Amino acid sequence: MTDIKQISNKVPDAITSAVRTLYEAYPYPRYPLLATPRWQDGYLTHSNFASTLVSDLYGTSGTALLTSGVKKSATVLIGGGGEILPYVIRKWEPARHKVISVDLSASSLRRARWRCLWDPRRTKFARADLDQYLRIQTPHTFSHIDVYGVLHHMPNPSETLQLISSRLIHGGTIRVMVYNGEARTWIHHLQRMFALLGIDRLSADDIRVAKELLALAAAASPSLAARLNQLGVETLNNNARFADTFLHPRETRLSVSAWLDAISKADLHIVGLLDRYAELDDLPNPMWQAPSATDLADRARDGRFENNLELYLTHSVSAKTGALTRAPQSDPLWWFPYLLKAPPRLWFSYNETRNLSMTLRVKLWHAHLNWVLRRSQSNMSDLLAWLPTPALQRLVRIGAILPGQVADLGRRAALATPIVANMQPPERLTASYPQCPMLHAKIDEILTAKGKNVDKYSMRVIKRLYKSQF
Ligand SMILES: C[S@@+](CC[C@H](N)C(=O)[O-])C[C@H]1O[C@@H](n2cnc3c(N)ncnc32)[C@H](O)[C@@H]1O
Repeated sequence: MTDIKQISNKVPDAITSAVRTLYEAYPYPRYPLLATPRWQDGYLTHSNFASTLVSDLYGTSGTALLTSGVKKSATVLIGGGGEILPYVIRKWEPARHKVISVDLSASSLRRARWRCLWDPRRTKFARADLDQYLRIQTPHTFSHIDVYGVLHHMPNPSETLQLISSRLIHGGTIRVMVYNGEARTWIHHLQRMFALLGIDRLSADDIRVAKELLALAAAASPSLAARLNQLGVETLNNNARFADTFLHPRETRLSVSAWLDAISKADLHIVGLLDRYAELDDLPNPMWQAPSATDLADRARDGRFENNLELYLTHSVSAKTGALTRAPQSDPLWWFPYLLKAPPRLWFSYNETRNLSMTLRVKLWHAHLNWVLRRSQSNMSDLLAWLPTPALQRLVRIGAILPGQVADLGRRAALATPIVANMQPPERLTASYPQCPMLHAKIDEILTAKGKNVDKYSMRVIKRLYKSQF
């Protein structure tokens, strides 16, 4: 695992230009342009969610607001927005919030702009390197910054975090997702394997060959098949996602503790963590109380925690003095269509929530919207009485119900506690050297086609396949 400081030894321009070339070819995540994205699934993405969480947990302080110069109109920055996130965030942000999406890739920006064309609420797009863009902004400009899946592709993530922190207003919020280095070790082996084979990330033919090779390897190795299965067919079938996962020119391989360290050195405080895969049930509710660095690092090391780090941040000082103003944030004109949408799918993908009735689901959704967009607790007491305890415990951990929605402080404290005594590391199937002749023949065929020395490289490729099973 690389130490965060060593990364700055690399030449930023070369990294940035390779990353730009990748995303010009494969705008991420490359959903069909005519499909209508389910933007309500992005309920965790917007500034009102983050600031509600912060103010529910730490309260708003008059002093913080007076000294912060909180403006009437918030400015939201999407750093490395890709081609779909600007559309989702724009749906959620009130019309008077300025939304700016900055990305290196012109093709991503074009697709994102096209999606936003039909929304009368304006979004600005800028083609720039995020570091350079942040450097030319005045300090304390943005009320909320979203950098989801971007920092690990930057030349120096700790420097970008410092810049983000300095451009955030006092009491502002950040949503960030960075890779869990430990959990991706197996992917790093496959990335090295594709590099050994000379797979060209920009060639559709090479990507097809890379997919064929992985399919053969999965057929020969149940443990690799299980890993790939976990990634999901979308990553394996979609060229943009495949290249993003296995052929990326820049992925910093930082451990969970290195990321947490960089966050803290940027003077940022973790407000909450989204436990998407219910891996942290033996810890206090991580959305309301960030796990300690030791707890998280231990779990990343032994495989109990495999999700990426999906975090909400604020300045360390704001955690003490309060969040951005929490005046109701919705625009009446936009309120009604929200109510007609079905609630986010994630909420009902867990054992504890999958059997909730449609009526309860809709009530839950409306209660969530009422709280994050209008600061109203309407119908919450009924809802809290109707929801079975296990469902409630899960929903508070994924941000479907925020702390301020639970008026009874005793109940709130109970929902902050662990829900099981301990969690076990996942069981892994035994790793083995893949023996399949078709796989070996395929490796030799690729190496020959690439003009590489088969004797020299084929065993090294097989070794990477072996290591990718752990
Ligand atoms: C994996 S995609 C994530 C897109 C989006 N955040 C999402 O969650 O769907 C990474 C995005 O970051 C952009 N990006 C990478 N490095 C960047 C940089 N140095 N400056 C600006 N954008 C960058 C890429 O062009 C790409 O659109």
